Amino acid sequence: MTTQYYTATTLDGFIADPHHSLDWLFQFGEEATEDFPAFLEQVGALAMGSSTYEWVLDHLIRPGADHAQPWPYTQPAWIFTTRKLETVPGADIRFVHGDVAPVHEAMVKTAAGRNVWIVGGGELVGQFHDRGLLDEIIVTIAPVTLGAGKPLLPRAITTPPMRLLGTQVYGPFAQLRYAVDKAHRE
Ligand SMILES: NC(=O)c1ccc[n+]([C@@H]2O[C@H](COP(=O)([O-])OP(=O)(O)OC[C@H]3O[C@@H](n4cnc5c(N)ncnc54)[C@H](OP(=O)(O)O)[C@@H]3O)[C@@H](O)[C@H]2O)c1
Repeated sequence: MTTQYYTATTLDGFIADPHHSLDWLFQFGEEATEDFPAFLEQVGALAMGSSTYEWVLDHLIRPGADHAQPWPYTQPAWIFTTRKLETVPGADIRFVHGDVAPVHEAMVKTAAGRNVWIVGGGELVGQFHDRGLLDEIIVTIAPVTLGAGKPLLPRAITTPPMRLLGTQVYGPFAQLRYAVDKAHRE
C-alpha cells in the first residue's frame, strides 16, 4: 500500500492558474491522462482540499458544467474543509478538517491494501508529507508555464533527495515518478 500524490503540473510547478483554471491542461484533451485509468484502479481511498472539490463541483457536477459527468470516483473520498459544503448524491464523500494523520489512518483502513491518493492541492499534500505519510509523487509535466498559480508542492524536500523510480512519455508530456523518504522531516 502506497500513499501517492498523482497530478499534472506545468513545467514551472503550478497545478492550476491563480483563478483555479485548468484550461492550460484541457487544451491537450486526454493525452496527459493516458495512464490514469490504470492508476485509479489501484486506488482504494482518496483525499482532496476544498478548492479541488469545488473545482470538480463547478466543472463536472453542477448543471451547466463545461466537462459534465457524474462524480468520477467509486472509492471513498475525504474532503478537507473548515466550511460546510454541499455533497454529491450517491457519492461516498466524507468531510474532515484538521490533522491529516487520523484521516490517513482511516483511509488506509478503508483502502484495505490498495493505494491512498492525495489528489491535491499542493499544500494539503505538504501536510501529509509533514506527518511522514507521503510515499510517492507522480507528476505529469505539461509543456506550458504559467508564471503564477497554485503550487505543486510548497515544501522543501532536499536531504535526502527523492529517488527517481521511473519516467514515461505521453505525447508532449513527461511523467516522473519519485519515492519520498518517509524519515525526512523539515
Ligand atoms: N493539475 C492537476 O491535475 C490538479 C490536481 C489537483 C488539483 N488541481 C487544482 O489545483 C487547485 C488547488 O487549489 P488549492 O491550492 O487551493 O488547494 P486545495 O487543497 O484544493 O484547497 C485548499 C483548501 O482546502 C481546505 N483545507 C486544506 N487543508 C485543510 C485541513 N487540514 N483542514 C481543513 N481544511 C483544509 C482549506 O479551505 P476551507 O477550510 O476554506 O474549505 C484550504 O484553503 C484547484 O483549483 C484544483 O482544481 C489540479
